[in-house]
Amino acid sequence: MSNFIQTDLPVSRPRRLRRTAVLRDMFRETRLAKSDLIFPLFVATGENVKREITSMPGIHQLSIDNVLRECEELLSVGINSILLFGIPAVKDETGSAAIARDGIVQATVRAIKDRFPDIVVVTDVCLCAYTTHGHCGVIRDGEVVNDESVDLIAEQALTHAQSGADIVAPSDMMDGRVAAIREKLDENGFANTAIMAYSAKFASAFYGPFRQAADSAPQFGDRRSYQMDAANADEAIREIVLDIHEGADIVMVKPALAYLDIVRRTKDEFNVPVAAYNVSGEYSMIKAAAERGWIDGTAAMMEALTSIKRAGADVIITYFAKEAAAELDK
Ligand code: PBG
Repeated sequence: MSNFIQTDLPVSRPRRLRRTAVLRDMFRETRLAKSDLIFPLFVATGENVKREITSMPGIHQLSIDNVLRECEELLSVGINSILLFGIPAVKDETGSAAIARDGIVQATVRAIKDRFPDIVVVTDVCLCAYTTHGHCGVIRDGEVVNDESVDLIAEQALTHAQSGADIVAPSDMMDGRVAAIREKLDENGFANTAIMAYSAKFASAFYGPFRQAADSAPQFGDRRSYQMDAANADEAIREIVLDIHEGADIVMVKPALAYLDIVRRTKDEFNVPVAAYNVSGEYSMIKAAAERGWIDGTAAMMEALTSIKRAGADVIITYFAKEAAAELDK
């Protein structure tokens, strides 16, 4: 391919098309749009709660009333989809608050859909914020057991669908959970509820700030027996193949920035919608450096988001969604 291109001066001068802002805009290959962005929200119990998450400047835990206010604001700036995380009042060994019909996420979805039926509501499906031990599944003899966890996770997904969620997003990384969720949804008349699978989810240090936000840090050990090893790209592709076969409508790569090669491979190898999660640590690093005056935070944000889109992501889950929307309006 490249040998057909004339590479000698003066025929080839790439700077010709970079000369003016209008030319650069005309030949820009990747365009970020507000419709690409999903904004995560942390919902807590209580009323009029707006609790700052110190490790994520600008992001808060909100009670349902404030979530509704936030949705209104998001819609007004052109962000039409959200990802919900619940922080329950009580936790237990098996995370039973995760599958309660009147649980925090379930109640929030109903309240949102009642007021804003058109907003796309994605729910995070996982037990870690609901278990006392903070792991994403059930513990037996010190181990996170797979199949018993999958049963609970499928049940949790069903309660989210029954509450009105448009998309359920399992983030637990148990084997076989996408198939179990699809079957459970279909059996109960929710054939139209989509699944966005956290398919290639890596055990990552970049989740640190989130665990403060969602109060979901593991109380012993780590997540390496279920989340992926950062070194593995072929295995990520195998995980993605499995989830596509099990019925995922959207596959996700997470985190985004340190894993853009996985995003690109996924887009190149499969004709499926790809999501990338621009995680908490990726957000906080830019915020922290910008606060110190070390980088231009807005420019770094737009560059990071554009790179995720350029790598092949169709949608980006990002704490920057609101700020990026403002920037895209300029
Ligand atoms: C729950 C979950 C996590 C994130 C999304 N869902 C944390 C984890 O696996 O420890 C991370 C999101 C972020 O860092 O922004 N399993």
